[in-house]
Amino acid sequence: MKLLVIGSGGREHAIAWKLAQSPRVQKIFVAPGNGGTARESGLENVALRETDELIEFARKEGIQLTVVGPEAPLAHGVVDAFRDAGLRIFGPTRAAAQLESSKDFAKRFMVRHGLPTARYATFERAADAKAYVAEQGAPIVVKADGLAAGKGVVVASSVAEANDAIDGMLLSNRLGEAGARVVIEQCLEGEEASFIVICDGRHALPLATSQDHKRLRDGDEGPNTGGMGAYSPAPVVTPKLHARVMREIIQPTIQGMARDGLPYVGFLYAGLMIDREGRPLTLEFNCRLGDPEAQPILMRLKSDLLALIESALDRKLEQATAEWDRRSALGVVLAARGYPEHPVAGDRIEGIPAPSEDCRVFHAGSRLDGGQLVTSGGRVLCVTALGDSLRVARQRAYAATEGIRFEGMQYRHDIGSRGLRRA
Ligand code: AMP
Ligand code: GLY
Repeated sequence: MKLLVIGSGGREHAIAWKLAQSPRVQKIFVAPGNGGTARESGLENVALRETDELIEFARKEGIQLTVVGPEAPLAHGVVDAFRDAGLRIFGPTRAAAQLESSKDFAKRFMVRHGLPTARYATFERAADAKAYVAEQGAPIVVKADGLAAGKGVVVASSVAEANDAIDGMLLSNRLGEAGARVVIEQCLEGEEASFIVICDGRHALPLATSQDHKRLRDGDEGPNTGGMGAYSPAPVVTPKLHARVMREIIQPTIQGMARDGLPYVGFLYAGLMIDREGRPLTLEFNCRLGDPEAQPILMRLKSDLLALIESALDRKLEQATAEWDRRSALGVVLAARGYPEHPVAGDRIEGIPAPSEDCRVFHAGSRLDGGQLVTSGGRVLCVTALGDSLRVARQRAYAATEGIRFEGMQYRHDIGSRGLRRA
């Protein structure tokens, strides 16, 4: 079979690498891919981004299945367009992807279907939003309704900070259309976890649990990023909590989407806050795998990813099982200088170790310039390792980062700390 993976991040490198291990796969094209997918055996980059070009390519090449990595093409309806063209593609439709592309849609859905989540209200007028903040007090969370590439959420510790965020989105138009509506939400406390499942419209099969590190610097300091590292499994999600999340959050979501006429097919990522009483609350939904969560999760997946995706597309997920490596996996993101505000591109990348059974480097913001790898985005690489314990996985991942060099490389030294404290 020939497959197409849409996207260019570390998540897409991991998806394509994993799919390439399926015995039925002959070749995988990655559109547009990165410097890592350019060099991986069995993968080939194609410099395409527009939906109509991708459809034409899939037809011409006889692509039998397309897998979508990031949220933007899903929110733009790439799945609807492929389906209309009679092509097989894995991911939610544009309407179902609103679970991520509109926070107001997601919150209304959560309330309608009784999911545990933070109290909220939605506003289009700054004066109304500020009146609500004055009444609720701080800390409080201000979120742009639309997709804002990780820049749409402000956890405000004071009323003034919340009002600034409101002004930025509703008055100064800082996030464009995405910020033309804001969701204002009660600030939740606790520990976050990423709970990702694969869905066939009626059933959900959970993937291994994971935890992400969103802040730029050690000790959860500095600005929010797309994620500076992740590990799997997340010890905070005990077997009992796992069952509770399936019962109280995942199953009502799948059933609710079906009942609302938007059956959900694809990966679904619930961002959870586990509060002090151990209750799981829904922070957000993403309509895709996490990045960098996918890198450690897929390192641990022993089952054939292609077979799982096909079971979901054939509405037979209840018959599928996923087998996981008992070991832990941990990924450390190496980011470019200037990330996340103004990442600098074009720096030479040296010293990437050859992949081994228990350690590999997934690429994101890298590209091949002649034969030379250079940086081309904010998050450049994700060094991911397996180990018999989280501690060993972490040692192995950090040992592998030691030889890697590029100008101004930034990374966190404490990926996995929360998990280690629990374990
Ligand atoms: P979101 O895109 O909604 O996941 O928000 C990004 C990050 O903001 C989350 O991973 C949390 O760290 C934080 N966040 C979002 N909503 C809340 C909330 N209601 N209370 C506290 N932190 C939040
Ligand atoms: N790592 C967070 C996300 O993928 O949304």
